[in-house]
Amino acid sequence: MEKKTVEIKDAKGILGILLPGMGAVATTMVAGVIASRKGLGQPFGSLTQMGTIRLGKRTEKRTPKIKDFVPLAELDQIVFGGWDIFEDNMYQAAMKAGVLEKNLLNQIRPEMEKIKPMKAVFDQKYVKRLTGPNVKTGKNKMDLADQLRKDIQDFKKNNGCDRLVMVWCGSTEIFIKPSDVHNTVDSLEKGMRENDPNIPSSMIYAYAAIMEGVPYANGAPNLSADIPALMQLAQDKNVPICGKDFKTGQTLMKTILAPGFKARLLGVNGWYSTNILGNRDGEVLDDPESFKTKEESKLSVLEHILQPELYPDLYGNISHVVRINYYPPRGDNKEGWDNIDIFGWLGYPMQIKVNFLCRDSILAAPIVLDLAIFLDLASRVGFKGIQEWLSFYWKSPQHASSVYPEHDLFIQLMKMKNTLRWMKGEDLITHLGLDYYD
Ligand SMILES: NC(=O)c1ccc[n+]([C@@H]2O[C@H](COP(=O)([O-])OP(=O)(O)OC[C@H]3O[C@@H](n4cnc5c(N)ncnc54)[C@H](O)[C@@H]3O)[C@@H](O)[C@H]2O)c1
Repeated sequence: MEKKTVEIKDAKGILGILLPGMGAVATTMVAGVIASRKGLGQPFGSLTQMGTIRLGKRTEKRTPKIKDFVPLAELDQIVFGGWDIFEDNMYQAAMKAGVLEKNLLNQIRPEMEKIKPMKAVFDQKYVKRLTGPNVKTGKNKMDLADQLRKDIQDFKKNNGCDRLVMVWCGSTEIFIKPSDVHNTVDSLEKGMRENDPNIPSSMIYAYAAIMEGVPYANGAPNLSADIPALMQLAQDKNVPICGKDFKTGQTLMKTILAPGFKARLLGVNGWYSTNILGNRDGEVLDDPESFKTKEESKLSVLEHILQPELYPDLYGNISHVVRINYYPPRGDNKEGWDNIDIFGWLGYPMQIKVNFLCRDSILAAPIVLDLAIFLDLASRVGFKGIQEWLSFYWKSPQHASSVYPEHDLFIQLMKMKNTLRWMKGEDLITHLGLDYYD
């Protein structure tokens, strides 16, 4: 590819990170940023904070930190805002979420208490297990979008922000299939004025963000911005968008293991995944309609990595089952079990069991931070529409309709780092070394 240097606007000034949904994931991320600033902890898991990037040939020994290579917003340039259907400030919400220790939260209490949720756009039709008092009313969905746009403008002004990004950290909504109302900007706007039931709350936030020129990332599997109308609007308004569904826990493990099996041409005929989870997300997912949205997102991963159409004998007949069970005693500390039935030489069977005792929000927090920081970079580079180079962070990466999504974590990482190299006019790394060929 042609070597090119794009103009990257610098990252000076204040970046506002707007979070629809101030629950376990959002509060863990915000608390982590504040704690890191105060030296109370380190942002492990975050590429923008700790990752490096190799440049040029291995002999050149140039491996700067990503944050020293491309201009990124620094942690102390960030302010936070958000919406929730509950009135709790970030400190109270983090205490209730129970992810981080009280001792840590008490050390950052004043900063966390200052972050109070704006009134949410919410309709229980889309999240059956939730109800709360901090909710906007309006004459139709367009009116609600206008109220969100006003919130965004006010937040920007009141906090002296130079730029904003929005990352959806709200609940998983019921499964909604793309339909005619989602096809064009006109049909979507008409649908919003007529309160079309196929327009859930998360779509209204995405619309408001894009209209305000605010990059939008969708941390849940909700349809949200993954519709032709909003992809078009993002192009028209020069806004980068990406989604869906943070890649944490069991799916992260799947996208680490499956590429390994395929690399060694080991067959797979069964993958059974089950989880117990006791936080509010688990409770929401206990509703079959919200679970259906999550299930679709989790199931698609293996098919795209293993490519059964290319390897029918190895992967043409996989039984892939995913279960999530709500089990309150575990809180945010999810436990996942995978039973993987694989086969090798001459079809001889083997089994692998994975028992991952993870912490959902601890895995999700650095993803939220990186997405916010990288989307801001994308915006300053002039990228617009779907950001496939950020597929690394997603269970169901949003993609152009002409291509399949890339799920393999290692290809995703290479794509992301090559995109960063491309931005700065560095050689893309192909891993081709022909020293042994004269
Ligand atoms: N933690 C993970 O590993 C992980 C991974 C992938 C995706 N996710 C998704 O991220 C989202 C957040 O997860 P969580 O564990 O923080 O859940 P949570 O239930 O603790 O927080 C979600 C918050 O969103 C609020 N909310 C719901 N609808 C809203 C609306 N329309 N407007 C404003 N606020 C709204 C809820 O009141 C709640 O406080 C969920 O959709 C979850 O499925 C989480």
